[in-house]
Amino acid sequence: ERLSIPFFFNPSHYVMVKPLEELVDEQNHAKYKGPNLTSSIIEAKEIPVIDISSALNNCSNSIDDDLIREIKEACNKWGFFQVVNHGVPSEKREKVESAARQFFALPLEEKKRVRRDEENPLGYYDSEHTKNVRDWKEIFDFTVEEPTLVPASCEVGDDELRELRNQWPDFPPDFRVACEEYAREMVKLSFKLLELIALSLGLPADRLNGSFKDHTSFVRINYYQPCPFPELALGVGPHKDSSALTVLAQDDVGGLEVKQKRDGQWIPVKPIPDAYIINVGDVIQVWSNDEYESVEHRVKVNSEKDRLSIPFFFDPSHYVVVKPLEELIDKENPTKYRGYNYGKFYTTRRLSDFKKLNVENIQI
Ligand code: SIN
Ligand code: FE2
Repeated sequence: ERLSIPFFFNPSHYVMVKPLEELVDEQNHAKYKGPNLTSSIIEAKEIPVIDISSALNNCSNSIDDDLIREIKEACNKWGFFQVVNHGVPSEKREKVESAARQFFALPLEEKKRVRRDEENPLGYYDSEHTKNVRDWKEIFDFTVEEPTLVPASCEVGDDELRELRNQWPDFPPDFRVACEEYAREMVKLSFKLLELIALSLGLPADRLNGSFKDHTSFVRINYYQPCPFPELALGVGPHKDSSALTVLAQDDVGGLEVKQKRDGQWIPVKPIPDAYIINVGDVIQVWSNDEYESVEHRVKVNSEKDRLSIPFFFDPSHYVVVKPLEELIDKENPTKYRGYNYGKFYTTRRLSDFKKLNVENIQI
């Protein structure tokens, strides 16, 4: 066996690769015209890949305008992009992936010891439905702020809160630490992305941060077994995310597809080692009054390989009322949404439905 790990050090997508001006002259003519990488990316229909390294060390008012433009274009056109050079240490991701694989390899009885139930929507479950069709996957969910505060019921006027806590398996022993460390990295990256998205909407960098003071974010680990009839099942049926942002780690197998806004075609999201896939969720769609849309996506399964993916759902605090931002609406662009309380929404989706529809039947 042999393992090799190439790192592809590539220019930005808008770079025209051609001989450097200083190195050509009358005696030594340019031998290459240089392709326009931007148009070839668009023709090949790939969601944009954005290098965010320049935003990591800069304070938010000196962030590169080109980067903000790239983010804006990606959010407008696709609702999805991948980020590279994001500052998340690869060991943290490898650790959680390895711990998750060990957990999912346990006998079902063992995994069910941390199974979610009517009282607690967090933990393991082996089946989910998207729009009443069973998804081909197993899941482990954990919340990030512990405890996470959410409304106890979805009744308007009932202000009682409920504390959500995680359930951790005994094996593998480093599972909990790996998950908690990874979640901290996801929060850090998400705040950075939130700033970039705020800037791309023409807002101050920290405009959206206040809504995440006691955020209800959670991490989901998806494990897709090889499926004997891949043409008949989907790993996850077509859906949109209800989060503000989703930060997704996928392994090298592939299967995630995004519905292209322009023509409704399903476009595969190419696995890039160590990259994260970012998508705008319903909350940002509402905040931006539809300038950015939460785009439909789905996951295909295959008959040969298992697949692991880890979405982090960056969700506002339970008391936030999600409605279009005042700065983004005016007479020409009137508000398109009345607004909703995020906590009540969370409880309706993840707690009340959970009771009504039984353990299996819940979808984010
Ligand atoms: C999802 O969107 O729910 C899952 C994404 C993935 O597994 O790639
Ligand atoms: Fe999703």
